[in-house]
Amino acid sequence: MANDRADKLSAYGQDHIHAYLEVMTGPERQQLLDDAEQIDLEKIAELYGSYRASRQQGNEKKVFEAAEVLQLPRTAVFAAERKRLAFIGEKMLREGRVAIYLVAGGQGTRLGYNGPKGCFPVSPIKQKSLFQLFSENIMALRRRYGAALPWYILTSQENNAATCAFFKEHNFFGLPADTVQFIIQKENPSLDLDGRIIVSPHKKIFKNPNGHGGSLYALKDSGALAEMAARGIDEIFYFQVDNPLAKIADPLFIGAHVENRAQMSTKVVRKVDPAEKVGIIGRVNGRLGCIEYSELSQAEIEERLPDGRLRFSSANMAIHMLNRGFVEKLTNDPDFRLPYHIAVKGIDSLAADGATVKKIDGIKFEMFIFDALGFAERSITLEVPREDEFSPVKNASGADSPDTARAAMIARYRSWLQESGKLHAVPDDLVIEVSPLYALDPVEFAEKYAPPATLPSPLYIE
Ligand code: UD1
Repeated sequence: MANDRADKLSAYGQDHIHAYLEVMTGPERQQLLDDAEQIDLEKIAELYGSYRASRQQGNEKKVFEAAEVLQLPRTAVFAAERKRLAFIGEKMLREGRVAIYLVAGGQGTRLGYNGPKGCFPVSPIKQKSLFQLFSENIMALRRRYGAALPWYILTSQENNAATCAFFKEHNFFGLPADTVQFIIQKENPSLDLDGRIIVSPHKKIFKNPNGHGGSLYALKDSGALAEMAARGIDEIFYFQVDNPLAKIADPLFIGAHVENRAQMSTKVVRKVDPAEKVGIIGRVNGRLGCIEYSELSQAEIEERLPDGRLRFSSANMAIHMLNRGFVEKLTNDPDFRLPYHIAVKGIDSLAADGATVKKIDGIKFEMFIFDALGFAERSITLEVPREDEFSPVKNASGADSPDTARAAMIARYRSWLQESGKLHAVPDDLVIEVSPLYALDPVEFAEKYAPPATLPSPLYIE
């Protein structure tokens, strides 16, 4: 190793790396050497500084307030307003001013699934993967609005190759391949409690993806933001890979966001069960953001308003509208940097003898997208019906699992059938799935659907 690099490692308190290099040989040594050459030591010092600062703040109790929420229920009273806002959103879509951004950097580990979560088969009859459902949805939107709707997908170092291969294997589910772009998010090194880089059992510097907040920087670093500007795209629809009910590029949401000249907006559903483990959109020490479930006291979690609803009831769906100019500002202006969230976790670490592996406490650093809300001068928090739009797949069983998501999909399509008014009654046990390519909403469904004399079950409509 060049001497100046060795000196630098020492200057930054990382000279323990020399001990590993001394006992390693050949390609292993070269790999660690390359890793050490590339590592940004100043960034590491900054990360560790943020850990120490967070320890000093300790358990300082933050002040939480509920967010102001925009409610536009599907009732006659709101029909005209909904129509007006949706019209604005549809115009944006037709003019090609909206891009779609899916964050899919995580693995299906919590689900017990070995691979990118988007490849998980989720639909009730056809077992379509999350990626297939989203692709078909976007295909239907492209047809409806006659616009390109470029789709950016955030992947991680770990799942990029598998994600790209899955799309190729399935011919991009019918989408033109050049309208889908995969971006790779950056990683942060994890540190031990003394701020030292950890060497993994694979003899590399241990790193973890930089969190979904990293998605904003990835847009800039990949050139996607510049490309959007060149294409005349002003707004970005952001969503997470785990929600098969996500209403992609919802014109009502786009319209409400654009009309209010909001820089970043969020969709929420009403939390009714105090025990539900979701983030809450609200104010943290006066700034709009997301209150994590673990941050609220039991009394706050259970607190109710006079009308009986929970005081902290705006459950974060992790669906946002982001103004492109706002993302540019966030990613260019040092005063607008997202903070790091810190988690101490057990990490397998290689000892300096180059052979022994032990689990140590390691600090992981991540950025979260919702912290960007605190930088927005204007923001809309739109509440939507849970049964229409939110049923995430997070756990292998129980709440937020494939079973609950399938049941929610069936319930949604049954309600479309019911609402279409074309049947006297929908059988209680009907298993139904509607392809996004057939209909994207109950109105389109009602326009097209002519039921057969007897309904088969399962019933797949395409
Ligand atoms: C998240 C939100 C929570 C919200 C819930 C809704 C956090 C901390 N919490 O919870 O407020 O109510 O979703 O379902 O985010 N991802 C990346 N790169 C990363 C990390 C994550 O792309 O480095 C992606 C994942 O692929 C996934 C999404 O971000 O699509 C969510 O990540 P996850 O850590 O699973 O969040 P949750 O704890 O489920």
